[in-house]
Amino acid sequence: MSLKWLIKLEDVTISYKMDVHQNPSRLPNLASWISNKITRAIIDQSLQQKTSRIFTPLSGINLDVNEGEFLSISGPNGSGKTSLLKVMSGIMQPFKGKVSWQAINFGFVSQYQILLPELNIRENILLPFYLYKERHEHNGTFLENLNIDDLHKKLDDYVKRFKIEDILEKHPATCSIGQQQRALLVRALTMDRDVIFADEPEQNLDSDGRIELFLSFKEANTAFKKTIVLVTQEHPDVLKKYASRGIKIKDNNVVEIFHNGNN
Ligand SMILES: Nc1ncnc2c1ncn2[C@@H]1O[C@H](COP(=O)(O)OP(=O)(O)O)[C@@H](O)[C@H]1O
Ligand SMILES: [Mg+2]
Repeated sequence: MSLKWLIKLEDVTISYKMDVHQNPSRLPNLASWISNKITRAIIDQSLQQKTSRIFTPLSGINLDVNEGEFLSISGPNGSGKTSLLKVMSGIMQPFKGKVSWQAINFGFVSQYQILLPELNIRENILLPFYLYKERHEHNGTFLENLNIDDLHKKLDDYVKRFKIEDILEKHPATCSIGQQQRALLVRALTMDRDVIFADEPEQNLDSDGRIELFLSFKEANTAFKKTIVLVTQEHPDVLKKYASRGIKIKDNNVVEIFHNGNN
């Protein structure tokens, strides 16, 4: 059976332009030294010039994210994991290369707490629905399939499955980080996102919380057929139990570190 790709990266390079400033603290001493006006003019001009350098954490990446897979991305801090996720999800354009999508919509679970503090968990989960409704109902393009009764039913199923039914009426500040992360996952599932991206969601969790979160992602992948792209610092031996394929960033490119099953 041939795999259907949802995201395709072809020869993708990610670069950042970095400005390098001269240290101005040496300027007064230096200037008082110099009596020759011509020399000073030349030095002033050169000090005003900013030099910039191109920094390329990732280059020549060829990678498909396939429908139904649970892909984990590992690598040290600063190796380009978040940048890769941004390019895959279309948040950022690559410096070079091509990114194509056959997936329409994406959900995100972040390492930061991104739920709105003024809303309770139920309202936070349903927020994209209301925003979408407000934006689209006047021009008739509101998603026909998204029906509020179905949505509530789906929400009820998911919150039971991911054990957050007791916190639906609570505000985020009174919930644990693990519960908030699971609420984000439930939001992505309830909104029927094709691909769920997670950027080090385990970062602020203890070891039990991590396992519970990885299990939730695995369940979203196996029981609910969601494609998952998880950036994580977790050890590959642990990841193998949850993800179907693992890649890591090495020498500015990606290498596969494990591949389970058919995906
Ligand atoms: N907006 C930016 N401007 C300049 N450099 C950046 C920017 N974003 C990230 N970087 C640099 O690119 C590298 C990769 O960053 P990132 O993708 O955040 O890595 P990771 O998520 O693996 O820690 C880092 O060295 C970082 O400092
Ligand atoms: Mg990062």
